[in-house]
Amino acid sequence: MATVCLGQDEPVTFIDLRSDTVTKPTDSMRAAMASAEVGDDVYGEDPTVLALQERVAGLFGKEAALFTPTGSMANVLGVRGLVAPGQEVLCESSAHIARAELGAHGAFSGVTMRTWTGERGQLDLPMVRRLFAPDLGPFFVPTAAISVENTHNFAGGAVLPIADLRSLREYADSVGARVHLDGARLWNAHVATGVPLADYGAIADVLAVCLSKGLGAPVGSLLVGPADLVAEARIWRKRMGGGMRQAGILAAGGLHALDHHVERLADDHAHARLLAVACGLDPAGVDTNIVVLESADAPGLVAAARDQGVLVSAVGPTTVRLVTHLDVDRAAAERAAEVLRTLT
Ligand SMILES: Cc1ncc(COP(=O)(O)O)c(C=O)c1O
Repeated sequence: MATVCLGQDEPVTFIDLRSDTVTKPTDSMRAAMASAEVGDDVYGEDPTVLALQERVAGLFGKEAALFTPTGSMANVLGVRGLVAPGQEVLCESSAHIARAELGAHGAFSGVTMRTWTGERGQLDLPMVRRLFAPDLGPFFVPTAAISVENTHNFAGGAVLPIADLRSLREYADSVGARVHLDGARLWNAHVATGVPLADYGAIADVLAVCLSKGLGAPVGSLLVGPADLVAEARIWRKRMGGGMRQAGILAAGGLHALDHHVERLADDHAHARLLAVACGLDPAGVDTNIVVLESADAPGLVAAARDQGVLVSAVGPTTVRLVTHLDVDRAAAERAAEVLRTLT
């Protein structure tokens, strides 16, 4: 259960299924953060940030990583490292980079996008082949990179199979394109499938991973990739106002999360399947920690659930999203399931 302060209301206790970003740091995470060794990270002198970056780069078999305040910034830095102004990135039409970063890739980086629409956010390689534009000189926008999102947020936490990602890598190499992986919830994909993190690293030139979603850290993401691209991203992070000083306080939360909160994502996935069953959905359609359900009146369902102490989000007029996380234990998931069973 989580205590939530909504607007002017007094704090109230809800089961909060709106997002896995709502978690609050655990006592032991706060203790790790409070005792973190720190330095000025703009000078490259914060030992805890350096340790986190080195550890995460190693997990994905990459040369380097850069700590960023948000996943959006990691994506912007990653895509701009692969795609020059006036070039394009191909991605799925409901990808976070296309729908939820407020046009940042165009606004900051001069990058254009074309999209395919994949069932449950999946890769559609034949469509990617059709969309791909080679550099034909001063006539057409050339495709520089292809971006994939795993797990796919707006497709209900769907996992992209590693076999498809390997085919994409092969295709990208054959046409000289590069691959960006938005892995805000890649940890969930890793736990759900058992695919090693390094295998995901191998299919991408750059990845963005978040600590502040399922892993339960309060702030922070990382861009992971080749040393030269990450060095350039460090300059752009500063240019964008994202240079952070004693950020080791935050990085310590991330290191703690990597030690304690990865394997437990399996619990979140089990809780999501429990909720799916309560809502009359096939749990086999729930790959990880997100459940998407259709309702004739999504805002009405949100209000009714709230009246019974359960917070869920309307992500469209007829679509409701439930997300399980660290602050929803088994008892809370069962209680939420009871409420939702009566409302759906
Ligand atoms: C798939 C995906 N990528 C990137 C982000 C951006 O993360 P942030 O909110 O830290 O900018 C999110 C946020 O929910 C996401 O779901």
